[in-house]
Amino acid sequence: MTSHHTAKAPRADGCACSGGFGGEFRARTQLTLPALDGSFPRMIDLTDIPPAGVDRFPVRRPLPPAQADALVREILDLKRRLNAVILAHNYQVPEIQDVADFVGDSLGLSQQAAKTPADVIVFCGVHFMAETAKILNPSKLVLLPDRDAGCSLEESCPAGQLRALQATNPNFYTVTYINCSAEVKALSDVICTSGNAVRIVNAAPPDKDLLFVPDENLGAWVREQTGRSMTLWRGNCYAHVEFRRDALLRVRAAHPDAPIVAHPECLAEVRTLADEVCSTEKMITYCQTHPAKQFVIVTESGIIHRLKKECPGKEFIAPPVFDVMQMPTDHCRCSECRYMKLNTLEKLRDCMARKAPRIELSREIIERARRPIERMLQISARPLENAG
Ligand code: 13P
Ligand code: SF4
Repeated sequence: MTSHHTAKAPRADGCACSGGFGGEFRARTQLTLPALDGSFPRMIDLTDIPPAGVDRFPVRRPLPPAQADALVREILDLKRRLNAVILAHNYQVPEIQDVADFVGDSLGLSQQAAKTPADVIVFCGVHFMAETAKILNPSKLVLLPDRDAGCSLEESCPAGQLRALQATNPNFYTVTYINCSAEVKALSDVICTSGNAVRIVNAAPPDKDLLFVPDENLGAWVREQTGRSMTLWRGNCYAHVEFRRDALLRVRAAHPDAPIVAHPECLAEVRTLADEVCSTEKMITYCQTHPAKQFVIVTESGIIHRLKKECPGKEFIAPPVFDVMQMPTDHCRCSECRYMKLNTLEKLRDCMARKAPRIELSREIIERARRPIERMLQISARPLENAG
């Protein structure tokens, strides 16, 4: 039987990161295959086969202001001509956030997508987010600046494997984190985001066996919060699981008065050290309303741009994975999502000018995937006391 094993490449800077964005830091992966004569396994070193998109992730340099301004003018002009809306996730690069009509978390972005009167939705985020916008707006053109902007959670849950697991228990009620493909949404009873997962699980039928896919860390946190027993799919966010307890303890020792705010995709060893565990949008309101002047933010570092803009006078510390004094550096971008960072201002302009890459989905998938998304939006819109 074929199996695979991932080990960490030794790194000059000692960083424990398994992601790696350049050749020198690429994770070492070995594929074990049955031997040709069936007697012992063959090991194939896949180090030189880059994961999709990774090699196209150069070290980012800020654009010279004149070039950035010219691009922004072109983007705004295209937006007017297309009657487009630009939606951007909190992890997008600052220059994209600044040109967007709305910047938010997955829940806020799907709510915006559900109500926009625009003809064209330009989605600056990752593929599953743009697909969600398309499912909610089948007749509209939905553009994504880089079609390779995927998500490790989406990859971890192929529809065929989910269908096979569901077939083992007819009483399963599938609660699916929005970070998944349209096909997986179509197999789900209800969708959730990190911003409403507790509420969605609390509203699930009590006589059902809950199956939570695909993020085991978010699922474990929701299980703790709700007390509902759930079967968890074994997927995770490759970026959030790089944050570790030891690094966080060092940051806490250096900044003892700074509340630690962590995303629920983090490991339990990190979540238990946090003062607040919440979605990226709730991080903004938490830091705005909390009297502290310094915060440790344990999520993708794109959020820091919005935090700085919307919480003036406060300081945000984004913990590096390995060494507080050294990271993140140009080489190690442990706290960046390689997929979110594929989108750039140039690609945003290009996708609007070319009306491509665009999201295309079959009518059947759209119809089936729409129901669990709408169920989520309805539950999220209920007044809190009736939320279940
Ligand atoms: P939020 O919905 O909290 O923004 O999370 C999205 C995501 O992809 C986290 O990695
Ligand atoms: Fe997916 Fe993680 Fe990137 Fe979010 S941060 S889009 S969960 S890979």
